[in-house]
Amino acid sequence: MSKVQPTPLQMATAAVKMTTSEQLMNHYTGWAHSYDQMLGPETYIGPQLAAEELARLVPEDRRAQARILDVGAGTGKVGIELKKKGFVHMDALEPCREMMDILEATGVYQNTFTEFIGIGKTTIPQKTYDVVVVVGSLYEGHIPVEGLDEMIDATKPGQVMGGEGGYVVNFMRQGTPEVEKFMLKLKPHADQLEAKGRWKKVGVDVG
Ligand SMILES: C[S@@+](CC[C@H](N)C(=O)[O-])C[C@H]1O[C@@H](n2cnc3c(N)ncnc32)[C@H](O)[C@@H]1O
Repeated sequence: MSKVQPTPLQMATAAVKMTTSEQLMNHYTGWAHSYDQMLGPETYIGPQLAAEELARLVPEDRRAQARILDVGAGTGKVGIELKKKGFVHMDALEPCREMMDILEATGVYQNTFTEFIGIGKTTIPQKTYDVVVVVGSLYEGHIPVEGLDEMIDATKPGQVMGGEGGYVVNFMRQGTPEVEKFMLKLKPHADQLEAKGRWKKVGVDVG
């Protein structure tokens, strides 16, 4: 009797329903070794879209110097795409050891942080990164909205990138009830941080 494999959508839907960090880590531990195969470019293009956006933000002649932090980095799919665009200095934060092992084996990242963000304090350096990027990880049951505060702390303050300071760039898939619910927390939190002068909204793109 053959075992029916879950679809990528079923795995992603299950992930947002996890109620504890321990459950979530068990989920990703079990998924780590089939993640890349299941989420090939025909199914999931988040990492490619993120790399295109970062390439738009960082001029080609600055990419080799720019420091990037990939948050909730999973198996390193974003770093692989960034490398194709000429980025060299990528660090990664990812709490699941099995996902991180695969990420480290890609060889595209320099410093890695096996820890959560938004839950207690991370050890990531402050005021360091030209771009902090998060792809498919800032949402329900994963990185809580408070993670944004730490991402902002990790970016370079003003006077870099044409005087604007570093960027925090978040990519998320629209349209599921979980994402819509999470947006009700994310948007006010982002607005509050802007009112406090912690960051400035450069753009929101819905595609
Ligand atoms: C759907 S995967 C996305 C991985 C990668 N960014 C990609 O695009 O393939 C979500 C990742 O977020 C990580 N994650 C969950 N909660 C987190 C937290 N609080 N801090 C950092 N990463 C977290 C998970 O371990 C998982 O690897």
